[in-house]
Amino acid sequence: MDQAAHTKAPLKAPADDSIAAPVLAPADLSVILPTFNEAENVPVVLDRLSDTLRGVAWEAIIVDDNSPDGTTAVARKIAETDPRVRVIRRVGRRGLSGACIEGILASSAPFVAVMDADLQHDETLLPRMVMELRAGADLVVASRKVDGGSSGTGLSGIREWGSNIANGLAKKLLNVNLSDPMSGFFMIRREKAEALAPKLSAQGFKILLDIVSSAAGSLKIKELPFTFRERLHGESKLDTLVTLDYFGLLMAKYFGNIVSVRFLMFGLVGASGLLVHLLALRAFLFVGNFEFNLAQTAASFVAMTSNFLLNNQLTYRDRRLRGLDALIGLLTFYAVCSVGVLANVGVANLIYLEPSYWWFAGAAGAIMGAVWNYAASAALTWRKI
Ligand code: GDD
Ligand code: MN
Repeated sequence: MDQAAHTKAPLKAPADDSIAAPVLAPADLSVILPTFNEAENVPVVLDRLSDTLRGVAWEAIIVDDNSPDGTTAVARKIAETDPRVRVIRRVGRRGLSGACIEGILASSAPFVAVMDADLQHDETLLPRMVMELRAGADLVVASRKVDGGSSGTGLSGIREWGSNIANGLAKKLLNVNLSDPMSGFFMIRREKAEALAPKLSAQGFKILLDIVSSAAGSLKIKELPFTFRERLHGESKLDTLVTLDYFGLLMAKYFGNIVSVRFLMFGLVGASGLLVHLLALRAFLFVGNFEFNLAQTAASFVAMTSNFLLNNQLTYRDRRLRGLDALIGLLTFYAVCSVGVLANVGVANLIYLEPSYWWFAGAAGAIMGAVWNYAASAALTWRKI
């Protein structure tokens, strides 16, 4: 098939109203563009791809999480006249990693790139990345940390600092030898990504780190320097809370994927709840002068409420309940946790045979209670809409 015809397909509809379908070569490269509120940036980034990728048969897959600013509609409008542009609109879901994975899995091209849609990533690097894959690499990472690369003015000082700590941890804990494991700009052979997909976490935003650690050394990796640019329009979607996702991913990978990131977060929140419980108990007993049973019950409610708020803020940030939904969620959470206490005490009792094993019985009960709380609150409180 004529590749030139493909690469020169115009961004706008042809002036004549011929009904002949345009002849398209299959794409060699799919560029996955995850978007959330990027309506103003999408047309610009597509224009730039078209300029830069003249020698490559490419397509762009925009994965939009139903952005309120109408990004989907803007992208579809372009797709109506440009067959190289495809759009996936995800409803009821949020998350950068999940969007990228879905985009990758919607591609049939041998190479896939993941790139931010806000123009912070230098698209002129793409042809070189393609060359590296053609020369035998499995994964090419655009790095701000190798010679010649930089974060430019695109990253605030505090984020730069946080990102250095996170990089160090990734290296130590996961043996990931990348200069910039937090980079959101890379290109990979689709067959490799496809094979790893079942192991990847859809939560969070660290898809590159996830890919490389899941591959456990089986990828031939090449790093290319690039300068992180300033955002063109709009604002960053990644707040400081996403750092917690990152640590969650680190822990989950470190523990060999036995437990999900979400369960780990839930467990951490639960542990914080114990502390809250004890502090509240102390206050009710010694400041409020409550009798013990009342103080213990009141402290349980304080701890459950704090757990609910933290889980709603962190563990289920992608399904956060607001307003009346949050109130109903809080009530179902109380109900779930009350049954959790029964599961906890029941299991502990079953196991408790000898006083010397009190801690084992206690821990088994607590874990059982946590598993119940997690499963039941996922089904009831933060159920998928
Ligand atoms: N579909 C979808 N869903 N897209 C999202 C979501 C989401 O929940 N959150 C963010 N995006 C899209 C944005 O629209 C943008 O195109 C891209 O993902 C990056 O998001 P930004 O909000 O611009 O992230 P950033 O600039 O703060 O962070 C970038 O740099 C980090 C390194 O410091 C990203 O490239 C990160 O991946 C990278 O780690
Ligand atoms: Mn950005």
